[in-house]
Amino acid sequence: SRTAAVIPAAGRGVRLGPGAPKALRTLNGTPMLVHAVRAMAASRAVGLVVVVAPPDGAPEVRNLLDAHPLTGHDPAEILVVPGGETRQESVRLGLKALPGDIDTVLVHDAARPLVPVDTVDAVISAVRDGAPAVVPALPLADTVKQVEPRTGDAAGEPERVVGTPERALLRAVQTPQGFDRRTLDEAHEQVATEGEGATDDAGLVERLGRPVVVVPGHEEAFKVTRPLDLVLAETVLARRRA
Ligand code: CTP
Ligand code: MG
Repeated sequence: SRTAAVIPAAGRGVRLGPGAPKALRTLNGTPMLVHAVRAMAASRAVGLVVVVAPPDGAPEVRNLLDAHPLTGHDPAEILVVPGGETRQESVRLGLKALPGDIDTVLVHDAARPLVPVDTVDAVISAVRDGAPAVVPALPLADTVKQVEPRTGDAAGEPERVVGTPERALLRAVQTPQGFDRRTLDEAHEQVATEGEGATDDAGLVERLGRPVVVVPGHEEAFKVTRPLDLVLAETVLARRRA
């Protein structure tokens, strides 16, 4: 059995503010994408990492990764492919680059550079134990409200709350999400032909009606989305090195 990780890294990082594409921004001097690739390659099970670069940025990303080679015994192979307009499209392009002998696939956001290897291994184990789809997830700290969908003429009005789902039954899901390769290929093919986007890959598998199981996530697998997240990420890294 061979495991590969696909890392969508083609986003611009609008919420992080102006600057280089998010995956190329540095954390304590090293690009976020390099941290994310190392986090996947840290698992002994991962033999191949497919990085999905911005559509016009594949050569630059290739150079960047060549300048930060993986170390250690038998390091994972790294492929770089150009991405698309949405995360889902980028993942689909990454999956197309996988060789035929891969049977377990992780999909991991470049924007989660600090996920610990134990979390990666737990996801892989659950797939190898037979789950078609696995998500690492944590309980929520905040109460979550559902609000009314916004219509054009509601501009300026306060949002109206329509419900409060029971917090104890909610989970914040992270990456890497792990999949039986054929299940994930099928899920992405289905939406490419008929459908609306999803914000994660397991959501596509849910639409096929296949089971998705949860393993414990990790606080350090948080997504770098807004400027404050950069502060947290750099502090976590500094603490690791101390
Ligand atoms: N991603 C991608 N292709 C896209 C959009 C997003 O590969 N067209 C990737 C991002 O590079 C990131 C991951 O999907 O690693 C999660 O997306 P997100 O955190 O939303 O990153 P961005 O889309 O870059 O950020 P923003 O939404 O703030 O612009
Ligand atoms: Mg985005």
